[in-house]
Amino acid sequence: MDKSLLFFVGFSCFLLIHGVKAEDCNHLTETDNTRFQSFKALVPEEQPYRTAYHFQSLKNWLNDPNGPMYYNGVYHLFYQYNPHSALFGEGMVWAHSASYDFINWISLDHALVPSEPFDAISCWSGSTTILPGNKPVILYTGIDANYNQVQNLATPKNRSDPLLVEWVKYSGNPLMTPPNGVNGDNFRDPTTAWQGPDGTWKVVIGSYSNKQGVAILYQSKDFVNWTMHPEPLYSASKTTMWECPDFFPVSITSTNGVDASVANPSVRHVMKASFNSHDYYIVGTYDNEQEKFLPDADFTGTSSDLRIDYGKFYASKTFFDSKTNRRILWAWVNESDSSEDDKQKGWSGLQAIPRKVWLDRAGKQLVQWPVEELNNLRDNQVDIYGKHLARGSIFEVSGITASQVDTEIMFELPELEETGFMDTSLVDPHLICDRQDSSVTGKYGPFGLFALATKDLKERTAIFFRIFRSDNRYVVLMCSEQKRSSLRNNLDKTTYGAFVDIDPHHEMVSLRTLIDHSIIESFGGKGKTCITARVYPKLAINNEAHLFAFNNGTMSVTISSLHAWSMNKALINYRGSLEDTESC
Ligand code: FRU
Repeated sequence: MDKSLLFFVGFSCFLLIHGVKAEDCNHLTETDNTRFQSFKALVPEEQPYRTAYHFQSLKNWLNDPNGPMYYNGVYHLFYQYNPHSALFGEGMVWAHSASYDFINWISLDHALVPSEPFDAISCWSGSTTILPGNKPVILYTGIDANYNQVQNLATPKNRSDPLLVEWVKYSGNPLMTPPNGVNGDNFRDPTTAWQGPDGTWKVVIGSYSNKQGVAILYQSKDFVNWTMHPEPLYSASKTTMWECPDFFPVSITSTNGVDASVANPSVRHVMKASFNSHDYYIVGTYDNEQEKFLPDADFTGTSSDLRIDYGKFYASKTFFDSKTNRRILWAWVNESDSSEDDKQKGWSGLQAIPRKVWLDRAGKQLVQWPVEELNNLRDNQVDIYGKHLARGSIFEVSGITASQVDTEIMFELPELEETGFMDTSLVDPHLICDRQDSSVTGKYGPFGLFALATKDLKERTAIFFRIFRSDNRYVVLMCSEQKRSSLRNNLDKTTYGAFVDIDPHHEMVSLRTLIDHSIIESFGGKGKTCITARVYPKLAINNEAHLFAFNNGTMSVTISSLHAWSMNKALINYRGSLEDTESC
């Protein structure tokens, strides 16, 4: 049976088991088949750049993830969506999808659409909070009839609807309007709220005032009447307008996540802000009573600022998954082709694979890893052990569908002492990656992967490492180089790069890469450095795509282990309902 068809059947059964009723799911009815064919007809599969297991909409423009949550056995993802075009525009809505398994998603009716004076132009980004008594609510930014940004509340129409399809806007909206000194177009994107020990609710709104990016703090006793705190929770002069702030605790002892309201010595706090096209964060201490966030270091406006991802990745938002005790991060990955291309494709924008996120042992940075549910899509495992890569070696990882892959590699560096010196403190990592690209031989490196490559390597995206010695320590540089990713022109082929905070003397250099037609997400150093890229090969598409491992350094490296899996297709945004699946 066609694999995707199997998925459909499995998915339908899953919905049934969790939703309505469990029946004998071992047979496929004529109706299922017809439904599946009509779903397939909706998906423009002939397009080489549509993804197989990333979240995307069937058509039109998509951007920020909004209000992700786990509620009564269902994962919800809302997201910014333009129902009218493949480009961004007025009339943005909160589109809504739900999943039982965090892999396959059904598309539901839009949760919020512009309709009232307080959101007449658009329903922009925001978050969900689950109030005591298991009551989910949405706080979102409305673009009102005067084009001012205001904060609004919405609640489910019927909390016993397992999918929470319908949402009702509070009649007293807006709850917050731009305060004095803040421009009407610089006041948006409420975070998930958290509760202080005395029961006070707190929420942060992104802003820009007095030439500083700001997290404006509001407080409320009843979630309806909100007062601005005289001091922002944080502001930073080296930043611009803060979009989609996120403020959350992380455990100092465990990789488990914690609820937003936890504030005690067992946690530290992370402040994330989206500006200048990137997601930056600082780690620090939050004093819940004084309403002070004291970061270990401020934003500097330089390449040394920590980023969630050093590639194309924006407007990320986390939530606490109470089912598995994880904190999970979603993010929007924009296109790198032109608006004309997007109109032609009929769609634009993806969500990155959701990532579990936690604080690194040393307490200085976050670590991210694709949610383990993704492993359920793995198929056709290929294993390679102890492969020696002498200078100039390259070999193909065969036996997989190279356009749809998950791969994990460990590189061993037998003669590390011989590595070259570079004063890396003086150089922007992405500039080193750009100047010393995958074709430039070094001592240790470049070594890594050529993904979505043609056989002759004329098209290839290179994800690779270089090791330098700097001030008596080793520095690991990770690059994602898109220069040769496509023979097509008019694409953004920026090279990305960042350092990986590991000591290669004590641990192997690891790389996990998720390849999915037009997106490549890479995790270096077991998730310490993440780089996401969008690429649009002209020839290396579908079955013409190949995956290679290479070493273009003079020193040899050994692939201690390489695992690669072809990834099955997920059913993403199947337009269904629980009733649709009853005949399983
Ligand atoms: C970030 C953002 C948000 C805004 C939304 C509009 O990408 O600009 O600040 O709420 O997108 O879609």
